[in-house]
Amino acid sequence: MTQRKILVTSALPYANGPIHLGHLVEYIQTDIWVRFQKQRGNQCYYVCADDTHGTPIMLRAYKEGITPEALIASVWTQHYADFCEFGVAFDNYHSTHSEENRALAVMMYSQLKAAGHISSRTITQAFDPVKEMFLPDRFIKGDCPKCGAVDQYGDGCEVCGATYSPTDLKNAVSALSGEKPIEKDSVHYFFDLANFADMLAAWTNAGHLQTEVTNKLAEWLQSGLQQWDISRDAPYFGFEIPDAPGKFFYVWLDAPIGYMASFKNLCDKQGLDFDEYWAKDSTTELYHFIGKDIIYFHALFWPAMLSGAQLRTPSAIYAHGFLTVNGEKMSKSRGTFIAARTYLEHLNPEYLRYYFAAKLNGGVDDIDLNFDDFSQRVNADLVGKVVNIASRCSGFIAKRFNNVLSAQFAEPALWAEFINANASIAHSYESREYGKAMREIMALADKANQYIDDKKPWLLAKEAGQEAALQDICSMGLNLFRVLAAYLKPVLPTLSSEAESFLNTTAPGWINTLEPLLAHSINDFKPLMTRVDSDKIAAIIEASKENLEKTPAVSASPAVSQDLPVAEPSHEHFEAIFEPIADTIDFSDFAKLDLRIGKILKAGYVEGSDKLLQLTIDIGSETRNIFSGIRSAYQPQDLEGRLTLVIANLAPRKMRFGVSEGMVLAAGPGGKDIWLLSPDSGATAGLRVN
Ligand code: 2FM
Ligand code: ZN
Repeated sequence: MTQRKILVTSALPYANGPIHLGHLVEYIQTDIWVRFQKQRGNQCYYVCADDTHGTPIMLRAYKEGITPEALIASVWTQHYADFCEFGVAFDNYHSTHSEENRALAVMMYSQLKAAGHISSRTITQAFDPVKEMFLPDRFIKGDCPKCGAVDQYGDGCEVCGATYSPTDLKNAVSALSGEKPIEKDSVHYFFDLANFADMLAAWTNAGHLQTEVTNKLAEWLQSGLQQWDISRDAPYFGFEIPDAPGKFFYVWLDAPIGYMASFKNLCDKQGLDFDEYWAKDSTTELYHFIGKDIIYFHALFWPAMLSGAQLRTPSAIYAHGFLTVNGEKMSKSRGTFIAARTYLEHLNPEYLRYYFAAKLNGGVDDIDLNFDDFSQRVNADLVGKVVNIASRCSGFIAKRFNNVLSAQFAEPALWAEFINANASIAHSYESREYGKAMREIMALADKANQYIDDKKPWLLAKEAGQEAALQDICSMGLNLFRVLAAYLKPVLPTLSSEAESFLNTTAPGWINTLEPLLAHSINDFKPLMTRVDSDKIAAIIEASKENLEKTPAVSASPAVSQDLPVAEPSHEHFEAIFEPIADTIDFSDFAKLDLRIGKILKAGYVEGSDKLLQLTIDIGSETRNIFSGIRSAYQPQDLEGRLTLVIANLAPRKMRFGVSEGMVLAAGPGGKDIWLLSPDSGATAGLRVN
């Protein structure tokens, strides 16, 4: 086999919110593919980065009272930790806010401009006269021009599905200030995509894309390619355009260049040849794994930009579908919008890696995470079939043979069957048909179990003169287990390396020439994986509901289930990070609140929650039990005796930990900064404050 040189990327996650299970479909899918390539002996680099620019990040930092640089640094750390714990093993994880990216974005832009692919003209846009900034479509709200639904975004109606431009909205207001936007002119810079119509027509039909993607692109190409607006006015968090003061590259211009920048950073660290991978005549392979919502950017803009800048184009773009949970779009209120961190606090990440692998194929269909099915598959396949082989055989080898495997090779035909399966399993991994690969591997696991069932070592163990047969059979079982663990290694790197330690052997690479372990000492067996505990799933869902209460600004990457998007994406793709300006409430609404000064009598930790504290609060007329999400800011012992504001007439709420009878009010951005009243504020428990 000749060694391939491969560069692989996953889409760069936005630095304005946590990684969630919807994101992980892609990172796990890509990581499996990369691990497979490495196991095959290919030279394969996997790079990624945080996508850090744009209006939402700038505004969120402003809202939190920190610089965008501080915000993206803290998000980077969280993202990277989540990926590492899910076993997503990047060769480099960088940031689009990096010097490499600035230099490459300027280089690309200059090349495109010199080749005549950039033009400029004045356009008119909505402008917030109070905040003094142009408003992205998503920051304009108003009534839908089609169905009249109120409070709809400037780019489309969530009630009737109509798409329109913000100027069509009725009663439009800025979501930032609540003020009516004015129209204002500004010079913008455009990438002339139409110059690449012929190139794209050929490229999108040359085997770089999945069939369903090619078909969708044919529709887009037929309806004509528009100029792409690649500039934004200050204030904007991004890179300023050379020779255009006050104008910045649109986040989507420098995001894919971030793939190159991350690789450049790796090359500089490891002495690799950047040009070997990106020059026009490169013979290396380049693959981008993406979600189906960003095909337009990757299969049209990106190849056109690369080709216009005289660089190589991708070998392939691999799009996948979205994640649904229990058959529905992920939902914050149902607790199915699950952050990676929340999952990690309760369950083994390799369960999810296996489950996603079992459901993934090479197409763009959505995949569903059904928690019953999840438990059943992990328990039946990994615990019940694969690990079970080792636990069935290891006891006899330990007790009767001092942990030494037989010198005999019991079943050459069965062994050959296991080894010969490698070509087909490799083909399934290569073509991202992981579900098929898992079925093939589990069929082998069934055969190994069947072999043990037929040979009945537990009966032989009781018969005199059957020692050699017993050792041969159990040794064969453990050798077959080793092959299965090696086949599963791209999906289950931890389980697989623990299996290697147990068998006292090193990673076998790909399995085409593997020889059985004979007369070989192994180690004591420890359970390699336990069954999924359904209480833990319930805890994840409950904790995700709690997260919702405390962090209303959790942002989302694509989580919605939909067909391939048909319209050209006209707006930055994000969730509003600003809560929409609330409609005014009447004084009578406010007067309904029974706001009281409460005195914290007792405070304690809540078992099973790292966010909540349990408070016993004297509100004057009585004492209340209230769960409050302030653990990040306070130790229980610091709270006793302090005063706080309490909503005393909030309906009691049943939580997993007990009933919460009211709500504590505090101010601050969160984390360590959550401020309660101080004890010397002159108030006493029970005082009504409205
Ligand atoms: O859709 C997203 O979440 C974008 N942040 C993906 C960018 S991918 C690449 F182009 F950088
Ligand atoms: Zn509508």
